[in-house]
Amino acid sequence: MDVDALSSQLTGLPIPQIQYHPVIGSTNDAALRWANEGAVDGCLVAADQQTHGRGRLGRQWITRPGSALAFSLIFRPTPAEQERISLFSGLGALAISQALEETLHLAPEIKWPNDILIDRRKAAGVLVEAAWQGEQIQGLVIGIGVNVAEDAVPSASELMFPATSVETHTGQMVDRWKLLHSILRALFHWRSQITEQTFYQAWERRLAFKGEWVQIEGAASPKQGEPLTGLVSGIDKTGNLILQTGPAKTVLVSAGDVHLRAVS
Ligand code: BTN
Repeated sequence: MDVDALSSQLTGLPIPQIQYHPVIGSTNDAALRWANEGAVDGCLVAADQQTHGRGRLGRQWITRPGSALAFSLIFRPTPAEQERISLFSGLGALAISQALEETLHLAPEIKWPNDILIDRRKAAGVLVEAAWQGEQIQGLVIGIGVNVAEDAVPSASELMFPATSVETHTGQMVDRWKLLHSILRALFHWRSQITEQTFYQAWERRLAFKGEWVQIEGAASPKQGEPLTGLVSGIDKTGNLILQTGPAKTVLVSAGDVHLRAVS
């Protein structure tokens, strides 16, 4: 792959400029730098391999060559979007899910806030970061990593949560770049609907553990220091998780530094 081949692969999408790196530290770092240097809305940084890929909560994200998708899209949020920054990780997760469903006929679920599960194992993740200018967000970077081939899945000792790859479930080789096209198409589509009911419905419809008991670590809990336990009941309009913690009691959990796991 090179930048010209990638540009023709992504024809028809509103992407004004592309950077392609065979090896890079982190596409999110490159995109944040580019945003600070003036990249316009829709610019894309993609890489075959990352040496310092980052995940949520400061975790490492491993991207081996030839086996994964690792890319970061730069948005210049409009004033209306700036009020909904918390929805952009859900936007990334929804786009990945829809692309996996429509192009590969898989049945992914979104583990709130932004992990993509196939068969309850993590196949992809989203890391949204902001480029600040003083108090103002002047750019958003939506970083997406997808384990496409089995080789992309880190060893069990490197993992916090069981992982899988897309090809494990398709049983055949997947064209990474076609998948990238589908994810980006879905991203631009849902971005234009981020204030609409259809967006929340589409996100909620794919929510993993809906109606199941989960524990949330890192959220304010009535029992100090203990995880919050409840039934997953949905997502509100700001992307908070609605957790039913008692017969008539619901708690809203915001994404922040929280970690959700199923109660076994
Ligand atoms: C997570 O699940 O914790 C989020 C993982 C996000 C990984 C992607 S890969 C492309 C982009 N560059 C990074 O360094 N991270 C994101």
